[in-house]
Amino acid sequence: MSDNLVPNPRVAVVTGGASGLGLAAARRLLSDGMRVALWDCSKDGLHRAAEQLDGGENVLVCQTDVGDVSSIEHAADRTRGVLGDADTVLAAAGIAGHVLPYVEYPLDGWHEVLRINLTGVHLTCRALVPAMIKRGWGRVITVSSMAGKEGNPRQIAYASAKAGIMGFTKSLGKELARTGVLVNGIAPTLVQSPMVDEADLLDREAMDALRAKIPMGRLGRPEEFAALAAWLASPECSFTTGMTFDLSGGRATY
Ligand SMILES: NC(=O)c1ccc[n+]([C@@H]2O[C@H](COP(=O)([O-])OP(=O)(O)OC[C@H]3O[C@@H](n4cnc5c(N)ncnc54)[C@H](O)[C@@H]3O)[C@@H](O)[C@H]2O)c1
Repeated sequence: MSDNLVPNPRVAVVTGGASGLGLAAARRLLSDGMRVALWDCSKDGLHRAAEQLDGGENVLVCQTDVGDVSSIEHAADRTRGVLGDADTVLAAAGIAGHVLPYVEYPLDGWHEVLRINLTGVHLTCRALVPAMIKRGWGRVITVSSMAGKEGNPRQIAYASAKAGIMGFTKSLGKELARTGVLVNGIAPTLVQSPMVDEADLLDREAMDALRAKIPMGRLGRPEEFAALAAWLASPECSFTTGMTFDLSGGRATY
């Protein structure tokens, strides 16, 4: 893909950008010179994130529910109007949902995890990808999980949604392979974040078992996630699409 198609200035949408991995990636993309729109459902989180990022007019915050079509369309219109068309999207918004035996897992909990974690990725891409195709350049980065690759006992909805995101990434990547829009994903194992802190409080034993599976013997750092996201967003990532990359300290090697 010719370099002269790379937009200038560059505009990224980061869903789930108010916290954890999304916020770390937003910070990195901003320091790489991009304008960044944070789409997140947490008003307070967005307020804090904007203060921390201190990016002035290069940062836009949109309170958004990624699982709701009209909320997404409103955020897309606002982002386009204020920052310009997005050439990059990092779809990091997600919830862990219940940690319960399969037979006790409530149906409304299943629907909510699928709505936010999987349908949310689709709705986000549906709103932003058409303009990328038209322009002939774009980068889509999804966030699944080692849970989607290997399965997590007692997290049936989360693991299913995350496996779905990998299928979404493969399919859209192949479909758009000749358009200049590359679609790749990141499948982290445990990376230090508020989601992990919360999971620790809920079930320390299960979390310790997950930690023990990481050959490097430590959790990932948000900056390590951000560095991979920054490369996937860059023109240097040019011959890879449909791929989900591990960020797992050696846990997954296939
Ligand atoms: N941290 C990890 O160890 C880890 C491991 C594997 C995968 N992941 C994935 O990485 C992504 C980020 O996780 P994190 O650890 O930074 O969690 P986090 O809880 O710190 O951040 C998630 C963000 O998503 C937002 N969000 C939740 N529901 C939303 C909705 N309906 N619409 C818009 N925003 C919504 C939250 O407000 C929050 O700001 C998630 O998709 C998660 O599943 C994280």
